[in-house]
Amino acid sequence: MAGEKILCVDDDDAIRKLCTVYLAKRGYRVEAVANGVEALRLVESKGPPDLVVTDVNMPLMNGLELVKRLREDRRTARTPIIVLSAAKQEQDILAGYSHGADDYIGKPIDLAVLAAKIETILRQTRGVAEVVAAPRKLAVVIAFVHGKGGVGATTLAANVAAALAAEGKSVVLLDLNLQFGNAAMFFDLRPRATIVDYARGDITRVTEEDFAQYLADHKSGVRILAAPPSPEEAELVSIAAVQQAIDLARGGRDVVVLDLATKLDEITLASLDVTDIVCVVTAPHLAALRSTSDTLAMLTRIGISEARILVTLVRNTPKGIDDAGVAKFLNRKPDVVVPYAEKADAAADLGVPYVLAEPNDKTTVALRQLAVRLATRKAVPA
Ligand SMILES: Nc1ncnc2c1ncn2[C@@H]1O[C@H](COP(=O)(O)OP(=O)(O)OP(=O)(O)O)[C@@H](O)[C@H]1O
Ligand SMILES: [Mg+2]
Repeated sequence: MAGEKILCVDDDDAIRKLCTVYLAKRGYRVEAVANGVEALRLVESKGPPDLVVTDVNMPLMNGLELVKRLREDRRTARTPIIVLSAAKQEQDILAGYSHGADDYIGKPIDLAVLAAKIETILRQTRGVAEVVAAPRKLAVVIAFVHGKGGVGATTLAANVAAALAAEGKSVVLLDLNLQFGNAAMFFDLRPRATIVDYARGDITRVTEEDFAQYLADHKSGVRILAAPPSPEEAELVSIAAVQQAIDLARGGRDVVVLDLATKLDEITLASLDVTDIVCVVTAPHLAALRSTSDTLAMLTRIGISEARILVTLVRNTPKGIDDAGVAKFLNRKPDVVVPYAEKADAAADLGVPYVLAEPNDKTTVALRQLAVRLATRKAVPA
């Protein structure tokens, strides 16, 4: 037992008191509140607990809604939840699981059973934390972010991955543009498995070896977790599944490349939480530059320091605003400029990363330099 923080949510005073006393005696730090609203307020003020035990029927916000809300917040997306339910209310139990609960206990509560379940779940969680924290190689995470679609973010993600693999690094590319991701296409891969197949099962049981089976291999050495086959399937991938995928991809590898969506949702934010270096991709057009300004301001707001950001201007048209104009608009010079490449579209259409299709071209030189800068930039703690 490690003094974990347990949040008990029940509108029945007697049950709250009983749980608090019993679990505190067993060495846990217990907080008890009377409904979902109070529970969320407590999470907001005191941070996420290590485990939640919640009743179903409560005033203001019931337990099922609470489970749903906790799962929608990246800070609690993976927090274990045990639902308390009158033994005969099978519907509640099923609904609890479908909202993301990990286990349930019938009422009246047998406190010894509750304590045993808590201990079992926390032991598993500790096991996962130990694997992640074990002293071994843990990949640097590089995220490609863009405020406006079509600037060249996936082109950069694919080419940086390919350039680093060509240098002998072990690289995994996770396509986290869940609705419209097309990273696999840049490698001419039609993967048998996608992130949906990985996210469908009980993700807490997926080992690093299991995870590797969902990756598509490209002959460059890059391994790719492809986006869902259709936009509708994006919602089958939970925040917790994405967080876990990044953890699993990092184990024993050199670099994990994330191709993120333009949408600023909890999946994007959860990815940025664990990103070492953020490559903000922009293009020499007013609309792209404006959204890049907004993106940079957002990154500052969520606490990503300047040292972790690298702004890359992709000259994706032969014309466009010149470098001085771009710098003026953004109030900073881009860190890297990738020159226009006439054959960029052709390489993408063929599914050959540009750095491999045109190894001696000036755009390839810039892409390789970008890859080196990203991979060698010191990871700065958040
Ligand atoms: N250096 C370049 N020169 C010319 N064209 C380029 C260059 N880099 C990328 N492109 C082209 O820009 C287009 C958009 O690229 P890409 O799909 O990588 O953008 P994206 O930002 O990932 O878009 P989305 O928001 O749809 O995911 C593609 O047609 C690609 O070939
Ligand atoms: Mg893209």
